[in-house]
Amino acid sequence: MKCRVCPSYMEKLYSFYSPFYDHIFGHLLAPGRRRAFHYLERRPHQKILEIGVGPGSTLEFYPPQTEVVGIDISPAMIEQAKAKAQRLNSGCRFTLQVMDAAKLEFPDNTFDALMSAYVITTVSDPHRVCREMLRVVKPGGKFIVVNHTRSDNGNYWGRLEDLLAPVFVRIGFTTDLDVIGVMKEAGIVIDQVIPCNLFNTGRIILGHKEA
Ligand SMILES: C[S@@+](CC[C@H](N)C(=O)[O-])C[C@H]1O[C@@H](n2cnc3c(N)ncnc32)[C@H](O)[C@@H]1O
Repeated sequence: MKCRVCPSYMEKLYSFYSPFYDHIFGHLLAPGRRRAFHYLERRPHQKILEIGVGPGSTLEFYPPQTEVVGIDISPAMIEQAKAKAQRLNSGCRFTLQVMDAAKLEFPDNTFDALMSAYVITTVSDPHRVCREMLRVVKPGGKFIVVNHTRSDNGNYWGRLEDLLAPVFVRIGFTTDLDVIGVMKEAGIVIDQVIPCNLFNTGRIILGHKEA
């Protein structure tokens, strides 16, 4: 039995974190986030969806003339992200709105690429979220996901991550989820996996939707 909590728990928890999230996790998780953006094509006028945009910790990394739609389940996080987008004035067009990543309110094949930083281990139904991610991206479109993913069976870290999951899920993310496996099961083609962050605890997972 994997450890998950309901969306309203996460919404309240991340709304509580929102005033100080960037001061703690913003810095701690910055290397993976920054590096992930090296893999984003610099083509202008791309339409990109970022799920779980939080307080906008990634917004400064988008190249000018990108159309970015950022969604998050927490209204307080979206308020922070909007304030940040206004401060940045980076030449991107940001649309930031409250939405559940498990029920994306966009037509099929809308986006050129999808970005997700440290989100898939926070949602209550990661399989459904990954299926939604696949649905809204255009054929041939790219996925850039930064996340922790459970270690392989046979590696004792995996067992430890299972044991720690009930504690960590209460503070906002689970440690027992094989994010790469869930993305593959949803139909996302995985192209490359790059370790990142302190002690290589994170992964930059690059994928695409079959054309
Ligand atoms: C660990 S934070 C990551 C924030 C940001 N992406 C970053 O780079 O630090 C997880 C974010 O996902 C959001 N979230 C959790 N469940 C969600 C869901 N079902 N739909 C949309 N956003 C969700 C939380 O509100 C929170 O802002």
